[in-house]
Amino acid sequence: MKLITIAIDGHSSCGKSTMAKDLAKEIGYIYIDTGAMYRAVTLYALQNGLISEAGIDEDALQQHMPDIMITFQLNEETGRPDTYLNGVCVERDIRTMEVSKFVSPIATLGFVREAMVDLQRLMGEAKGVIMDGRDIGTVVFPDAELKIFVTASADVRAKRRYDELIAKGETCSLDEIRANVIERDRIDSTRAISPLRQAEDAIVLDNSNMTIPEQKAWLLEQYHKVAGQ
Ligand code: DC
Repeated sequence: MKLITIAIDGHSSCGKSTMAKDLAKEIGYIYIDTGAMYRAVTLYALQNGLISEAGIDEDALQQHMPDIMITFQLNEETGRPDTYLNGVCVERDIRTMEVSKFVSPIATLGFVREAMVDLQRLMGEAKGVIMDGRDIGTVVFPDAELKIFVTASADVRAKRRYDELIAKGETCSLDEIRANVIERDRIDSTRAISPLRQAEDAIVLDNSNMTIPEQKAWLLEQYHKVAGQ
């Protein structure tokens, strides 16, 4: 099998990362969750008082960017990588509703995107990576050998997110999550820099009515088609 780059883009909460993580584990690739990187920057901004009622203090955040170090480390128990912010595991803290509320506006900032894209290119330099996000097939790795664009209805996505948070013991409302999913789609798709859009050469997967094992099998088949050539 030849070593390739796999770009998985799509709407929020449509199960991209579950598919991507499972495939990475199965084929021995490195998995990089780029949404987690934007979430870590958002968490940093919240922890350092750079987000208030008045909005995001963009100038201060820009000055803080060199102090934000994001890395991934394999969790031996789950077999999946955890996100670290300045050496501290933040895998759980970056998935809260508070972070979800502010992450899309943070991800519209040019200086944040520039720093994250540089880091992502460095992480994927050697190929053998599966990267999931919004702009991987269009901006980060436009030459990726395999590009997938995943989508599902807003209702299905909100319910998946809701179940995930409830399973983690968080209190949340399905309506609030649905509104957040729709609002993030709007911000992600209409922002000026690197908006969420399907790459022309991406394969579209609508997984509204698919089980996780079905998605996994479908993705593995796409990988074999490309890497086995
Ligand atoms: O995949 P996610 O829901 O964890 O992503 C969080 C946010 O980060 C999402 O609202 C859009 C943004 N994002 C982005 O702009 N570009 C990426 N490559 C990945 C995520």
